[in-house]
Amino acid sequence: MATLALPALPARYKPASIWALYALGLMPGLYAFYLGIFGGLGADPVRAFEHLLGLWALRFLCIGLVITPLRDLFGINLIAYRRALGLLAFYYVLAHFAVYLTLDRGLILSSIAGDILKRPYIMLGMAGLVMLIPLALTSNQWSIRRLGQRWNKLHKLVYPVLIVAVLHYALSLKVLDAEVSFYIVVTLLLLGYRLVRPKIMERRRAKRMAGAAR
Ligand code: HEM
Repeated sequence: MATLALPALPARYKPASIWALYALGLMPGLYAFYLGIFGGLGADPVRAFEHLLGLWALRFLCIGLVITPLRDLFGINLIAYRRALGLLAFYYVLAHFAVYLTLDRGLILSSIAGDILKRPYIMLGMAGLVMLIPLALTSNQWSIRRLGQRWNKLHKLVYPVLIVAVLHYALSLKVLDAEVSFYIVVTLLLLGYRLVRPKIMERRRAKRMAGAAR
């Protein structure tokens, strides 16, 4: 398969570019918070803020999962940014959850319990958040070294996270609109790729070996 040779960023700029990604990635949430304070989020600012945080969580989850196919299929190596993308997704989910608990439900337990019974898709969101916690806690060099192969296995949890997140989103709507349909297709592509990936990698390895033997 053809690969693109993109000019690589010099190694000394990599840490700064990762911090820039964190700063840029947090901008939409901070900007929405600012708009909310100054009345720029429309008639139902809490709902608008909650939605925006949920959407950015889903976007960062998906972008994080694009990194591997980009490297495999096009030779574009952005692995250095994957941890930041995953953590950004986690921060947005946490903020989405915090807005739900505080501004939406006013930290009233009976209101939260009643809401979960009325809107069961909230449980799917909770499952996503619970699965993201061990991933966020082990997104560091120390855990990678300590866990070895188990780290890779654990981080495959991101696939069920994406499934429950997109189901949570779809079920929160009365109708399937263009935006949620887009995320369903993206999810199918991202997870479908993981199913065919071993075959693709195997074929590529065989080709390389044949080339080396010639
Ligand atoms: C992986 C975790 C999660 C992701 C990716 C996620 C994402 C989303 C998305 C994309 C939406 C729809 C936004 C829109 O309509 O534009 C949404 C809505 C919502 N989510 Fe989540 N969510 C997650 C976890 C949670 C959790 C833990 C809760 C609360 C316990 C929650 C509560 C809600 C609520 C209340 C809505 C709004 C439904 C409505 O009133 O229209 N979510 N979420």
